[in-house]
This record gives sequence, C-alpha cells and structure tokens, in this order.
Amino acid sequence: MDAAEKMHAIVRRTYGTPDVLAYEKIERPVPGDEDVLVRVHAAGASIGDYIIVTGKPYLIRLTPFGGVPRPRNPVPGACMSGQVEEVGAKVTTFRQGDEVFGEAVTGAFAEYLVVAAKLIAPKPINLSFEEAAAVPWAVAPLQGLRDAGGLEAGQRLLINGASGGVGTWAVQIARALGAHVTAVCSTRNVDMVRRLGAHEIVDYTKQDFVDGGPRFDVVFDTVGNRSLSDCRSVLTAEGAYVSCSGGDSGAAWLFGLAALWLASLFTRQKLKALFTTPNRDDLLFLKGLVEVGQLKPVIERRYPLRAVGNALRHVGGRRSQGQTVIQIASVRDQTPDHAV
Ligand SMILES: NC(=O)c1ccc[n+]([C@@H]2O[C@H](COP(=O)([O-])OP(=O)(O)OC[C@H]3O[C@@H](n4cnc5c(N)ncnc54)[C@H](OP(=O)(O)O)[C@@H]3O)[C@@H](O)[C@H]2O)c1
Repeated sequence: MDAAEKMHAIVRRTYGTPDVLAYEKIERPVPGDEDVLVRVHAAGASIGDYIIVTGKPYLIRLTPFGGVPRPRNPVPGACMSGQVEEVGAKVTTFRQGDEVFGEAVTGAFAEYLVVAAKLIAPKPINLSFEEAAAVPWAVAPLQGLRDAGGLEAGQRLLINGASGGVGTWAVQIARALGAHVTAVCSTRNVDMVRRLGAHEIVDYTKQDFVDGGPRFDVVFDTVGNRSLSDCRSVLTAEGAYVSCSGGDSGAAWLFGLAALWLASLFTRQKLKALFTTPNRDDLLFLKGLVEVGQLKPVIERRYPLRAVGNALRHVGGRRSQGQTVIQIASVRDQTPDHAV
C-alpha cells in the first residue's frame, strides 16, 4: 500500500474540550509486523474517550492513552469494528476482508486504524458493525465481575450505576454468569434496566441501597458516589467490592486506591479497583455470549465521524443510557440524529 494515501479522521493536537477536535484529511497509518490495518465501519464513544480528549484527570496523560506535553496520537477513539484491509508480515490470524471488532489504544475515530492483531477478534455474526463497535466496552464489566469480583452463579450482586455504558453491559453479563442482580439507577432508567434482566431495582431517587444491611456477595460500582464504608456495609463478611469509576481528579483516584489497599489489611472482604486489560480471549468470550443471545448492546445514540465532538459532549455529560457509536465507513456523510 502507498503510505501517502489519505483518510478522513478526527484530529486533536492539544488537550481540551471537544472544541479542540477537527475533521481533517491525514495520512493513513501503516501497520507494523504484528498489526492489522482496519477499514473502520463504526467506533464507540465513551466517557473514557472524553477523558482522553480533555486530558483530565491529568494522570491520564502519563498513560499510553495520553502523552506529554501533547497527545502522542492525534487521533482519539478506542472501540471499533470494521474490515481488515491489510495485515502485518507476522500476522497469521486475519486476512484481508475479515470482519473484526476490538479495542485499540487510540486512533479509532478515523476511516482507517492500525491495531495490534492480539487486540481484535472476529465480529459477532449476528451484530451490525455499529452494534459490534459497542461490544469491547463490555470487557471492563466482564473483568470487573468475573475476575476482580470473582462473581459466581447463585451469588447476589449489586450494581451501582446500572444504566450507563458500563452498567448496561454489567447487568447482562451478571445474568449470563448466573448471578442474582440488584441494579441501582434513576426512575427514567428503571424499565430499561429491568428489560436487561435485573431481578431487583433500587431507584436511587426514592431509595438508598445502603439501607438494608449486609446482603451482597459482590458490589460493582460504576459511579463512585458513595464512601467505601457505605459500600462495604452492604457486603457479606467475605464479599467483594469492585470500584470501576476513577474519581474526578488524579488525587481522588490515588486517594481511593490507597483507601482500598489500607482497608484490605483489616478485613476478609476483597476490595479492588478495576484496571481493564483489553485482550482477544475476552472479546471471544463476549462474542460467544452475544451470538447465543445473552448479550446485546444498548445503542442510545449514533453520530457520523465529523460529529465526534458532539458525541463526546453527550457522553461527557455522564447521563448516558447505554452506548454511543460513531458511524464511519457506511454512512459517513448522512445527517445525524444528534449531531447538532
Ligand atoms: N477502571 C476501568 O478499567 C474502567 C473501564 C471502563 C470505564 N471505567 C469508568 O467506569 C465509569 C462508568 O462508565 P460508564 O461508561 O458506565 O459511564 P456513563 O455511561 O457516563 O454512566 C452514566 C450513567 O450513570 C448513571 N448514574 C449517574 N449517577 C448515578 C447514581 N448516583 N446512581 C446510579 N446511577 C447513576 C446515569 O443515570 P442517570 O443519569 O439516570 O442518573 C447514567 O445512566 C466511568 O467513571 C469510567 O471512567 C473504568
């Protein structure tokens, strides 16, 4: 392939609000030996992408998603689905034309993306590209519930924040793992969360999940609005608390980690912060559940590539009801539902 070929992409050269994003024509990336060049059909837009674009909390700039003093990769975007365009010299798992999905470090808000072959998997056969682009999000609740929380069939689980990008997956994954699910959400999301499979619902505008004493084997927290002692008070003596949300600042996040570690020294409860590690095995696990009908994305909004800024303003508001996706290859120039 000619390395000078061009593509449309969303580009930012500094951190800031979504106003720093521009729709530009830039050079297509070229895959390394263990990479795949994907023609992106759809991408996911999440609160994680918003954090990476704003560079706040500042700690994010020190991770592979960031860069100092400016973003390492000008093109943001992580979750995506698309078709393999070209494979690196050492890649044997994919070939041109394969339909894939997965989570790159950055670069998905573009017509073409280079991603390590180990971070993608064949797309679920029963999903559209748009739906498939939302599935890599489910790796976080999968690892949070199954691995960090050790959730098993028959156990009682509380999900604080069951209606957002992570929570809607968490409810379904927990049901697929055989747990009894109590979901915390607001009135407007009660019906949706019930349809996803929650056995019991706590509407946080009317009821406090902390009332009722120790009764859960696992608490999965996507909101982080309650103190650690509140969350521990509803856990059984050997229950597990998994914190998914990072806090509003780097200091709050570090403080939260320290509190979890310190408290762990004095209890049989397992107190953990989630650090998601994207990988193909978990994508394949999720694909299996999707293909037997146990998981389905909840697509709340769709935007075209040039309106990524509006998509990020929406998810950055932290009132999402499921997932937001960016339409890229197939309907790139259509007028969006929510672009303006
Ligand atoms: N550690 C990791 O590896 C990892 C990976 C992925 C995500 N995360 C983090 O996980 C968190 C959740 O992500 P997300 O994509 O689910 O966020 P999100 O989509 O922005 O979550 C928004 C949802 O939270 C609900 N909510 C707000 N306040 C609530 C409350 N007090 N009680 C219950 N629900 C409430 C909102 O419903 P209402 O508007 O109706 O209240 C909305 O549906 C984020 O902080 C994200 O950064 C961490």
